[in-house]
Amino acid sequence: MREDIFRLIPAPLLSWYRKNKRDLPWRSDPTPYHIWVSEIMLQQTRVEAVKEYYTRFIAALPTVEDLAACEEEKLLKLWEGLGYYSRVRNLQKAAKTIVFEYGGQFPDDIKSLKTLSGIGDYTAGAIASIAFGKRAAAVDGNVLRVASRLTENATVISDTAYRKALENALTAVYPEEGTACSEFTQSLFELGALVCKPQSPACKACPLNGICRARKHGSQERFPVLPEKKAKRVEDVFVFFIQTPEGFCIRRRETGVLKGMNEFPSAVVNGESAEEVLNGWGVYAFTEKKRKNFTHIFTHIKWNITCVWVETDVAPFDTYSLDEIEESISIPTAFKQCLQIFNQ
Ligand code: ADE
Repeated sequence: MREDIFRLIPAPLLSWYRKNKRDLPWRSDPTPYHIWVSEIMLQQTRVEAVKEYYTRFIAALPTVEDLAACEEEKLLKLWEGLGYYSRVRNLQKAAKTIVFEYGGQFPDDIKSLKTLSGIGDYTAGAIASIAFGKRAAAVDGNVLRVASRLTENATVISDTAYRKALENALTAVYPEEGTACSEFTQSLFELGALVCKPQSPACKACPLNGICRARKHGSQERFPVLPEKKAKRVEDVFVFFIQTPEGFCIRRRETGVLKGMNEFPSAVVNGESAEEVLNGWGVYAFTEKKRKNFTHIFTHIKWNITCVWVETDVAPFDTYSLDEIEESISIPTAFKQCLQIFNQ
């Protein structure tokens, strides 16, 4: 079996990791809480972007009790710009379970970890190994890339059976319980991030270049095999800055993408004009001051946004000053970028 190669990884990879690991904020004090928060942030976001969010989040909410007790708007503000907001809602839900059902102590076994909201195979493996020193693999995109190249495995990486098999095969070669397990998980992430990169992998610098099948055959760029990309649905959207004597309108999204998040009132349109949309909200007398186009890409949707800034006397929704919006109202990036309309 090609996975036999995995037995040869730990020794060279651990020694490489100890010399080459990055100084990342969650590595200085790897408590279960710290590792959990960082891993949830890292799931859909680059390390460089996460660093600052992580540091600010931990400073504002230093313990799992603080997270469990945090007011929703403050929590969303700490997450503002990171996207995939269900991650932070699940984070708080799990924090409440840890506080109220586990007396504030994280469970240290995979099975219990996976019962917590937002914690699946990957995050459970990361917490168990990095924070508790358990023998448990955490298979993310980096690890799939490294392993697929090492073994020249052409299974598409979205295949859940492949992920599970890889998790088992890697777990089987973990070192003895303790710090080495924590380091081994992170060494796989690190190799994927620094050396075994998606494009132009730095094979000369790789501690595993002597055992890598893809390197041997020059097939690195053909692995991993990625799932076919689906075309995104394209939507035309109006986003309105409705300026009134009391401030700018903001409301909660009731449905669809970003449900439950704040927005500058918006509407997906099918040929309707801005005036028709405003009329639908009871806004008849208004002055248009400016309009500007933006785009925003979600996982499955592309928005072509026309942002329209209008002035009117009577607000159809709650209003806030620009200072309040900046300081304490959480606005997703799709809408927040539209604030640029006020420049020049
Ligand atoms: N990517 C996912 N988890 C990571 C971690 N703990 N360190 C670096 N990169 C990561």
